[in-house]
Amino acid sequence: PTITFTQNDGTSQEVEVAEGTSVMRAALSNSIAGIVGECGGQAMCATCHVHIRPEFATQLPPLSDDEDEMLDCTSTPRTETSRLGCQVTLGGDLPHVAVDIPAGQI
Ligand code: FES
Repeated sequence: PTITFTQNDGTSQEVEVAEGTSVMRAALSNSIAGIVGECGGQAMCATCHVHIRPEFATQLPPLSDDEDEMLDCTSTPRTETSRLGCQVTLGGDLPHVAVDIPAGQI
C-alpha cells in the first residue's frame, strides 16, 4: 500500500507501507512534518489530524464515536473529510490514500 502526504505549501511525498500500517505510523516513520501522534494511536490526542482527499473519503470505514469526539478537539478546523491518522489503516479495501496535512499543524 501507499500513502501520499501533501503539505500546505503543495509539496507532497508518497510513501510505501506494510499492510495494516496507519497513516499516523507511516508519517512518523517517514518523518512527515505535521503529524505527531502524541497518544500513540489511542484516538486521544488529535495530533494526527489529516484531511482525506475527497476521492478516497468514501472508501474509509465510518468514524467511531471516539474518533468523532476527538476530531472536535483538533488544533486546526475540522472539515468533512477530517480523520485521525491513527484510525486510518492501509491495506485490504484501501490500497492507497492521499491526505493533506492541515495548515498550522506544524
Ligand atoms: Fe493520538 Fe491519533 S495518535 S489521536
